[in-house]
Amino acid sequence: MNRKIFAELVTKTGNDASKVTQQLIKETFDVDVDSKHLNLVDYANNIDGKCLHKYFQYHWEADMKKWKYSGLQLIDQVNDLNPRAVLDVGCGANEFKGKIHNLIGLDPYNHHADFQIGLMEYRPMQKFDIILALGSINFGGQNKIIAEVSKCVNMLEDDGIMIFRVNPGVQHDKPEAKWIEFFAWNVPFIIELAEMFNLKVLDIKDDSNKRKYFVYRKVK
Ligand SMILES: C[S@@+](CC[C@H](N)C(=O)[O-])C[C@H]1O[C@@H](n2cnc3c(N)ncnc32)[C@H](O)[C@@H]1O
Repeated sequence: MNRKIFAELVTKTGNDASKVTQQLIKETFDVDVDSKHLNLVDYANNIDGKCLHKYFQYHWEADMKKWKYSGLQLIDQVNDLNPRAVLDVGCGANEFKGKIHNLIGLDPYNHHADFQIGLMEYRPMQKFDIILALGSINFGGQNKIIAEVSKCVNMLEDDGIMIFRVNPGVQHDKPEAKWIEFFAWNVPFIIELAEMFNLKVLDIKDDSNKRKYFVYRKVK
């Protein structure tokens, strides 16, 4: 759940969901959500989805050239592994399509994706030997992040590799990102997840723009 949005709803309504109106949501978060949900958690989840959608569809701009480790360098790095199936989770404009072999891009908010769907809703018929999650498993609280990493682990072949770029919680500058909760990734948490899901940490590096780049291998 997005705790920023939830906390604002609690403050504005005195923790009373019956006080939520479409007008309050529009004025506070600048998104349209109908006011028929039952509790503040449902409201927070709906508003969060709308804020992410608006930001990533209309305002966020990609720049694959700016990354030291997690941008265009990945094309050769991944192709050298001769992948049978690669999944790019949160692919944005799907810039690796046609460049990384056998790649499928999914993204709920970008029409360039092969599948315009969220990670948790995706039901592939196959497993992947490489999964990329570049800036896309980074929104909301820890439980959401753990559930999303778990979903990726389940879609990965034994011995498969996951490559991440993560944000340590730095707020994006644009005003439209105001209500997005950027999960504050850190190295102890990266290691904790490895223990939780039986993954081997192959690499952790400081990428450009304060981001972390890291690679897991799924242990049989
Ligand atoms: C910071 S951008 C990174 C895009 C691209 N991977 C890149 O490196 O340029 C984060 C991306 O994650 C996507 N995203 C957000 N929530 C998602 C979800 N639940 N499942 C999959 N992608 C998601 C956004 O739409 C956005 O395109």
